[in-house]
Amino acid sequence: MPFILTTFEYMLEPIVENQSLKPYNTFGIDVPAKFFTHVKKTEQLQELMEWKRFRDENKLILGGGSNVLFTQKQNALVILNEIKGINIENEDENSWLISAGSGENWHEFVLFCINNNYGGLENLSLIPGSVGAGPMQNIGAYGVEIKDYFEWLDALHLATGEIHRFYNKDCHFGYRESIFKNKHKGEYIILKVAYRLPKKHKLNTGYGAIQQELERLQIDNPTIKDVSNAVIKIRQSKLPDPNKIGNSGSFFKNPIVSNQKVEELKSKFPNLAYYPIDDKHSKIAAGWLIDQDGWKGKTFGNYGVHKNQALVLVNYGGAEGKQILELSTKIIDSVKQKFGITLEREVNIS
Ligand code: EPU
Repeated sequence: MPFILTTFEYMLEPIVENQSLKPYNTFGIDVPAKFFTHVKKTEQLQELMEWKRFRDENKLILGGGSNVLFTQKQNALVILNEIKGINIENEDENSWLISAGSGENWHEFVLFCINNNYGGLENLSLIPGSVGAGPMQNIGAYGVEIKDYFEWLDALHLATGEIHRFYNKDCHFGYRESIFKNKHKGEYIILKVAYRLPKKHKLNTGYGAIQQELERLQIDNPTIKDVSNAVIKIRQSKLPDPNKIGNSGSFFKNPIVSNQKVEELKSKFPNLAYYPIDDKHSKIAAGWLIDQDGWKGKTFGNYGVHKNQALVLVNYGGAEGKQILELSTKIIDSVKQKFGITLEREVNIS
C-alpha cells in the first residue's frame, strides 16, 4: 500500500511511495515508482518544487504514458501531468490560435478543434497520449506532423522554476524529434501548447489509405470531420487499442537511408516499401522490414509483435518491460542481418 508522505497547500494529491505505474502507461507494465504524485495546476508544480527532496530525486513526467516502456522500478519522483484547459488565445482574419493544457488528452483536443470546425489536426486523430507529449517527439501521421501547426509552448524549467516560452523554430522539430528529447531532455515540464489553425484550411488527403477510406464511404467533398473519421477507421483497423492490448504505437522509427542504399535493397527486394524525403534520402517502412523478416504476429507467451502492424510490439497482459525490450533487440539484430539497416527505437526506455 502506498503511504502518504506529506501534503502541501495546493496539492490535491499526496506524494505516495511505491505506487504501481500500471494504470499510467499504455503498455500496461506493472512497475512501482519510488514517489508518485498528480498535478492539475502549474502552481502545484511550483509548490512541489519546494519539497525538500525535489532537487535530489530523479523526475519523470508522465502524460498519457503512451510512449514509454518501463523495464524496472522507477527510481524517481513520477509526476502525472493532469494540467487541463483549452483556450482560444486569439483570432485574426486568417487563423485561430488555440492552446491546450499539456495534460489534456490529445484526441479530445483534436475533437474539440474538429467540432468547432478548426481544421489542421484532423489527420492526427486518435493518436494516444497527451497534448504535452505532442511536441516532445513531434507526433505525426498520414502526412501531417504537429510542427506544421505548432506556434509555441510554455514549459517550466525545473532547475530555476521559471516558465520559458518556446516558439516553433526553438523546438528543433525533426522526424519524431525535438529539443525536449535531446538537448533539454528532462530539464522542462511542458505546461501548455498552442496551435495556429488557418481559417482557409486545405485538407491533406493525399495519403493513400485516407483516399481509399473516403472512396469506400463514397465521400467526394470531405469535411474536416470526414477526414478525421477516415483516419480513426484506418487506425482502428491497423493499430491495437491500448485500452484492450498493451502497446505504445510504433515501437521503432522508420529509418532514413541514402537513395543508394534504397537502390541496393530494391535489387534484392523489388517490393521494398519506402518514401523519398529529399533527392538524397528516403525513409524505409520499418514495419515492412520487420514483416518481411517474419516477425509480424509472432507471440511469445504474453507479448509479441502485433498481427496487423509489425512496427507495434504488444503486451497481452502481465509481460515484463525487460522481455519486450529483449524482443526489440532481437528484431533490431535480425533486421540488421537481413537488410543491413539498424532500426532505432521510437519509444523511450525507462
Ligand atoms: N507495412 C508492411 N507490414 C507491416 C506494416 C507496414 O508491409 O507490418 C508496409 C505497409 O504496407 C506500407 C508501409 O509499410 O506500405 C507503411 O506502413 P503504414 O502506412 O502503416 O505506416 P508506417 O510507416 O508503418 C508511420 C508512423 C505511424 C503513423 C503511420 C501513418 C512511424 C514510426 N510510424 O507508420 O505512427 O500512424 O505512418 O502515417 O513513423 C506512431 O508513431 O506511433 C505511429 C503509429
